[in-house]
Amino acid sequence: MGTTPLEAHIRHLIGAGGPLTFAQFMECALYHPELGYYRSGREVFGRGGDFFTAEQLQPVFGELLHSFVDELARSSGISPFEVVEIGAGRADLSQALQPWGYRAVDLTQRHLEGPQFPGAIRGLVLAHEFFDALPVRLLKRSGGSWSELTVSVDAGHRFCFLPAGASPTLLEYASQYGDAIPEDGLLEVNEGIPHWCGRIADALSSGFLLVVDYGYEARDLLRFPAGSLLSYHRHRATAHVLDHPGEQDITAHVNFTHLTGVLRGLGFELVGKQTLSAWALSVWPEESFSLRWRQASTRWRLQWKQLVYGMGESFHVLLFRRSAPSREAARK
Ligand SMILES: C[S@@+](CC[C@H](N)C(=O)[O-])C[C@H]1O[C@@H](n2cnc3c(N)ncnc32)[C@H](O)[C@@H]1O
Repeated sequence: MGTTPLEAHIRHLIGAGGPLTFAQFMECALYHPELGYYRSGREVFGRGGDFFTAEQLQPVFGELLHSFVDELARSSGISPFEVVEIGAGRADLSQALQPWGYRAVDLTQRHLEGPQFPGAIRGLVLAHEFFDALPVRLLKRSGGSWSELTVSVDAGHRFCFLPAGASPTLLEYASQYGDAIPEDGLLEVNEGIPHWCGRIADALSSGFLLVVDYGYEARDLLRFPAGSLLSYHRHRATAHVLDHPGEQDITAHVNFTHLTGVLRGLGFELVGKQTLSAWALSVWPEESFSLRWRQASTRWRLQWKQLVYGMGESFHVLLFRRSAPSREAARK
């Protein structure tokens, strides 16, 4: 990888306005309208791209979600029951979820609906590897206090981290979640979580939010003393997240304790949280699974193994139900 066109742009921004927060750097690296990783038109998903997601294991993942949504729609009594996916990427689920008028919302694909998030949804909002792709701010603990790591340019014109004062909001987050982080450790703050949960709460008048992602509970932060930020390029992970902006993915694990707390505050209740593997094993009753397995192609069987044994333990499936009317509905 050589110098990326985005590097010059980011250097210019820093030259003109001073250091960027890491979230501003990540926003630019991933979502700059022409040069951002997800928006430049390059293939990022699948074999020819940089990473696989469970959603790309088609048809198996689509069939599982189809059965899951079918049961959810039936038991909820909501009719018609619609499905909207936020951060849909290639919209790999469009065929499987078509019976519920599946709508994909993503910044990436020009042929999809674009970033407009529809309102008055009755049914299900799906966020599959959406929250892990949102820009995060970075905090560093040193000398017993917290500073924010901003992004600047060093004497060799390379991007580097520069500590700066942390705002009261960031310090509040650190006081809530940072206790387990050791000296010189890092903590990521995903401000997109409250923002997007609020948008989803406003849009979903009744029904559910299904989150599929990798993440941790606050008690597990002990296991992430240096944070969870990673970059992916050609199916290889690297910790050098400041390198080659626009050419590699940047992602951070989701703080599920934070996500659940924010959603509870917005009138959602957590119906269940399982590993992706446990969820996949729970969707089809034994006879239904046996029948599918007997009739399955080699490709289907391989995808099932990849889903359950390959990805199953690192991802979680969280189902939330809207227990209070949306703020929109309450205002009317
Ligand atoms: C890791 S990809 C997951 C794609 C797909 N759900 C999958 O699992 O294959 C994250 C997606 O979220 C999208 N995204 C991030 N921020 C967004 C926003 N503000 N509005 C809509 N989509 C967004 C990105 O463009 C990207 O396609």
